[in-house]
Amino acid sequence: MAPIRNARVLFNSIPAPNTYPEPGKTTVYDDSRTIDLETVPLDGGFLVKTLVFSIDPYMRGRMREPSAQDSYSPPFTLGEPLANFAVGLVVRSEHSAVKMGDHIYGFLPFQEYTVVPDPAHIRPDIFRILEAKEGVPWSAYVGVCGMAGSTAHHGWHEYAHAKPGETVFVTSAAGPVGGTVVQLAKADGLKVIASAGSDEKVSFVESLGADVVFNYKKEDTRTVLQREGGIDIYWDNVGGHILEAALDAAHNKARFIECGMISAYNGEPYGPKNLTHIISKELKINGFVVRNLYPKYRDQFYKEIPPMVASGQVKYMEDRSYGLESVGEAIVSVQKGTNKGKKVVIVTENK
Ligand SMILES: NC(=O)c1ccc[n+]([C@@H]2O[C@H](COP(=O)([O-])OP(=O)(O)OC[C@H]3O[C@@H](n4cnc5c(N)ncnc54)[C@H](OP(=O)(O)O)[C@@H]3O)[C@@H](O)[C@H]2O)c1
Repeated sequence: MAPIRNARVLFNSIPAPNTYPEPGKTTVYDDSRTIDLETVPLDGGFLVKTLVFSIDPYMRGRMREPSAQDSYSPPFTLGEPLANFAVGLVVRSEHSAVKMGDHIYGFLPFQEYTVVPDPAHIRPDIFRILEAKEGVPWSAYVGVCGMAGSTAHHGWHEYAHAKPGETVFVTSAAGPVGGTVVQLAKADGLKVIASAGSDEKVSFVESLGADVVFNYKKEDTRTVLQREGGIDIYWDNVGGHILEAALDAAHNKARFIECGMISAYNGEPYGPKNLTHIISKELKINGFVVRNLYPKYRDQFYKEIPPMVASGQVKYMEDRSYGLESVGEAIVSVQKGTNKGKKVVIVTENK
């Protein structure tokens, strides 16, 4: 077979602090490379055709100087492809645990085809062979059945200590993390207050069963939380001014689950002025990084969540872009909130 195109998306330049990434500048589409699928050496690994990439908020944090402050996730390498969670189809394999025709979920560079050469990397925490016996679309495995859904599931089970009748406040509630938290909280018998950044997103979150849903760009969060009688749990996806409002609305001994602070990813961070509530209200605040909870909850997650998604018991909204050319815009949409649900890039529907 003649070599075919192997397009990529490269990390091209580091965005200035407190600015959004720019498609075509921060990230560039490059279709100059080819690959021969029949002869490319596998070195004991396997060759994957990428079907779908996840686009996640944390990717902005990886667009930093190599010398920048250490973080839980390393910086992207300039001139190299971006990388993230993806589902791919194995087209050739020399590895005993992976066969041609398998669908795998794992971490891949943003390119159409990838050789995964090092058998040491073929571990369950990096690659998972998907059976998809439930009939869930492959794209859901990078969203509600992937890292984002795991974040909601693992974080909720580890830190919520939810009791029926309590009240939880969830931000970015139309996204894959927030939307899943809303549904887990309702299943546990909580009153759910949820916020999102557009009326369309508000309607979707209402359809998930949340009790009080508001557009935080139109209604003041502090006013809503006080009108609703305060909160016992805050699932924080945004930080900043909204975290400050949640601190004011917290009941004594409330739990704060610090999942994300997207208000600070592209702008000057705002530090809440009322942190003394942590002491006077005896608040419990837990930040977490989902991958550290995988060993404890992964098996439970894959047993529970895909069947619930397949049956419609757990719902999600998906926002698809098509082709690697769309990756730059897709990344920005998640940072700015113009995405409508879990952002994915479909690389090919030829699966
Ligand atoms: N701790 C972990 O291990 C972990 C793992 C995965 C994700 N996370 C975090 O979980 C959060 C949600 O992730 P996701 O994948 O479900 O994302 P998402 O909701 O699909 O997308 C991010 C959303 O954030 C909102 N947003 C953007 N800028 C904002 C701002 N300045 N102020 C307030 N809201 C803003 C937008 O929604 P609106 O239109 O509603 O504003 C946007 O759609 C993120 O903070 C992410 O970093 C943490």
